[in-house]
Amino acid sequence: MKKILITGGAGFIGSHVVRLFVNKYSNYEIVNLDKLTYAGNLANLRDIENKPNYRFVKGDIVDAAFINQLFAENQFDGVIHLAAESHVDRSISNPLEFVMTNVIGTVNLLNAARNQWKDNFSAHRFYHVSTDEVYGTLGETGMFTETTAYDPHSPYSASKASSDHFVRAYHDTYGLNVVISNCSNNYGSFHFPEKLIPLSINNIKNNKSIPIYGKGENVRDWLWVEDHARAIDLIYHKAAAGSTYNIGGHNEWTNIDLIRLLCKIMDKKLNRADGESAKLITFVKDRAGHDLRYAIDSSKLQKDLGWTPSLQFEEGLEKTVDWYLSNEEWLNNVTSGDYKNYYQAQYVKR
Ligand code: NAD
Ligand code: TYD
Repeated sequence: MKKILITGGAGFIGSHVVRLFVNKYSNYEIVNLDKLTYAGNLANLRDIENKPNYRFVKGDIVDAAFINQLFAENQFDGVIHLAAESHVDRSISNPLEFVMTNVIGTVNLLNAARNQWKDNFSAHRFYHVSTDEVYGTLGETGMFTETTAYDPHSPYSASKASSDHFVRAYHDTYGLNVVISNCSNNYGSFHFPEKLIPLSINNIKNNKSIPIYGKGENVRDWLWVEDHARAIDLIYHKAAAGSTYNIGGHNEWTNIDLIRLLCKIMDKKLNRADGESAKLITFVKDRAGHDLRYAIDSSKLQKDLGWTPSLQFEEGLEKTVDWYLSNEEWLNNVTSGDYKNYYQAQYVKR
């Protein structure tokens, strides 16, 4: 039995990774460590929470003593680290929280892993899940490759870039067996409705305006979250120590085109007249430091490990809409309470 620590497993991507590993590897014990911040939700894992190879631990990666104790009490074979503060707009209002979790939290995990695994680094893997946002922004052409220089612009991407550097430093300095992946924007089920796609679905459903920053010309490269989880599985098991992989969907959309497509799908699903939902589109003040374009070249992952995205975007977006419309209770639960204060501060009082 192998024991793997997955951090941030109650969040959006983490819950898909936990589900994939728990269902696919009955010979692994999956320990999900999560602080359950506003973004962490055990309801994301209801379908697997009673499986014998799954265990949840509530805790904070910023608390070094707690992390060291967790490692002392468990002989982990590997770590897949996803816990993070993940929303750019929140990082603009509160950068220090991003430094604490994304940088200090990552270094706490690296220290614990280094200490526990020092006699046999090669048998233990530390997988750090990161973002394409560390590369900064592209103009109208080109793509990020694994050798693109880091050039982060938001406090979020700066904190993720810093954590990536620490992970590489622990490989180069101490010989820790690390791998890093940098993925483009994910979409799919269990995505917290502060991010563009689920926020827009929720607003369209409730006949509220859809806030588009600036002119909606910014471009993102969208990937189905379950394809990301599959890539993480492959990279965790097959990548060489010290390697980096970019993960992306070859699926670039301007925000306005994406929202127009979403509105069309929602009109159909909600039996509204064609064009009805698009009337909710509202252009609002742009995000500070808003990166123009992200696009990922994932050819290394395709060539080395045979990964390709499984879903066309239109199909994935429709599946996502269906999921949100049939999981009203989930949506209502995560948008009650604190979400209302966040929404008010971010969109109403600007
Ligand atoms: P998320 O915000 O949905 O989930 C983050 C999880 O981490 C939550 O469950 C939260 O409770 C937990 N967490 C936060 N602070 C913690 C702490 N101090 N200690 C323990 N747990 C803590 O994020 P996500 O979108 O699922 O992203 C997961 C990872 O993937 C992040 O590292 C993010 O940078 C990276 N990533 C995200 C995307 C994307 O499109 N969402 C794309 C590429 C990479
Ligand atoms: P987001 O989902 O926050 O992901 P990221 O900033 O990590 O790419 O935003 C995706 C794009 O949508 C980004 O260009 C910002 C834009 N956006 C809006 O136009 N309105 C919104 O309300 C939000 C949350 C994002």
